[in-house]
Amino acid sequence: MPAPNIDTVVSLAKRRGFVFPSSEVYGGLGSAWDYGPLGVELSNNIKQSWWRWLVYERDDIEGIDSSIILNRLVWKYSGHEATFNDWLVDCRKCKGRFRQDKVFDKSEDGSFQAKECPTCGANLWTEARAFNTMLQTKLGAVADDDPNALAYLRPETAQGIFINFLNVQTAMRRKLPFGIAQVGKSFRNEVTPGNFILRTREFEQMEMEYFVAPDAEHSKLVDYWVEQYMEWFRGLGLHSDNLSLYEVPEDERAHYSKRTVDVMYRYFPEREKPWEELMGIAWRTDFDLGAHSKNRLDAEGKRINPDSTEDLSYFDESTKTRFYPHVIEPAAGVNRTVLAVLMDAYSERTNDKGETRVILKLVPQLAPIKAAILPLAKNKPEIVGMAKAIKRSLQPTLRAVYDDTGGIGKLYARQDEIGTPLCVTVDHQSLEDEAVTVRDRDTWEQERVKVSELADHLQRRLQV
Ligand code: GAP
Repeated sequence: MPAPNIDTVVSLAKRRGFVFPSSEVYGGLGSAWDYGPLGVELSNNIKQSWWRWLVYERDDIEGIDSSIILNRLVWKYSGHEATFNDWLVDCRKCKGRFRQDKVFDKSEDGSFQAKECPTCGANLWTEARAFNTMLQTKLGAVADDDPNALAYLRPETAQGIFINFLNVQTAMRRKLPFGIAQVGKSFRNEVTPGNFILRTREFEQMEMEYFVAPDAEHSKLVDYWVEQYMEWFRGLGLHSDNLSLYEVPEDERAHYSKRTVDVMYRYFPEREKPWEELMGIAWRTDFDLGAHSKNRLDAEGKRINPDSTEDLSYFDESTKTRFYPHVIEPAAGVNRTVLAVLMDAYSERTNDKGETRVILKLVPQLAPIKAAILPLAKNKPEIVGMAKAIKRSLQPTLRAVYDDTGGIGKLYARQDEIGTPLCVTVDHQSLEDEAVTVRDRDTWEQERVKVSELADHLQRRLQV
């Protein structure tokens, strides 16, 4: 049973230190969230799983970490300055401002039908106008109105990869096909952020640009990466029933895409329309590498980029031809993956006393804490000493915590709620037989294990 709605997860996340509303001491900042001690572990574990899977376990992908602030010309030639827009309308009565697609229904013929204003109920809208959603900043100690100081916080990590294509290819002596992966923060001045960490103005992306020949089977490669990611998501504990695919129609695709498939997650199981995008896989063609290259010509034979000093084309030794590689791009959100993982792992169970307990059934790989070491009696120094020594001996190889701040039932419940797969209890008998009790989060079954075999025992069980 996954979480019945996002609110259930918001409350758990705040109570147990996964995610806090940001800037709360000043009344908060709309749709900004801070990751707490457990949230940062969960999010790091997701990013590490992704990096290991693509960069370490495959032979055809390199990793990079580019700047968040790039030369403004990157965003000019990528098309973002001209097209990275939301369309906005104002209500003439209450002056409320909305994204057009939120208050207009699009009919089959492409025309828009106005709905009532969600705030005042009127149906009096201004013309739609474009609002560029790149977040602006100024570089250097310059006058406020100096246009040369304008810079953007990147709205996607992808461009940092494109402008480094030749650097990586040359330095790492790569031949096509190969990919470049990057994980990091992106920023968008979203008009309607919301739904917890689903849509925020500052978020993290895990993007990979997979470079292939112009005559590769691009559509098949999109299908291949869709399948790969579906498998990765299932490995993170997401149930197949909560995942679906959406073939994005042409009029909804980004300017660079010839085909996009979105992987959707059931973030709103309580709603009539439960699905929202978890990630997208796009065939970006050779648009970006061509756009940043000095030698690419338009239909009239004119250079499309007079500012570029490089040509990001590729020379294929086997065919002795030079071309701009095409790109298949799987682009996933870290925060949306965190939310999906939390929702899917959420479950409830009733104990012998009829009390309902929350159990977060995270796969061990993602659990913020792998094992909690708990003393049965905190006023018995020998037991406390033994438990702390066990914790210290485990911590170089796995994330373990020691906790003695409650009775054992409460301590178990607390660890269940944050997804700790295994609890290790040190009791009076442990002092005699050098053994401890290992308790399973999901079954609540207990097993006696020798302290000398504990590290191996835990490692084995955490790998399942
Ligand atoms: N480079 C392609 C690209 O950026 P996108 O579909 O706009 O494509 C990719 O973004 C992923 O980034 C989305 O599927 C989503 O997971 C995440 N994402 C995008 N905007 C977001 C936002 N405002 N808040 C949280 N995650 C976001």
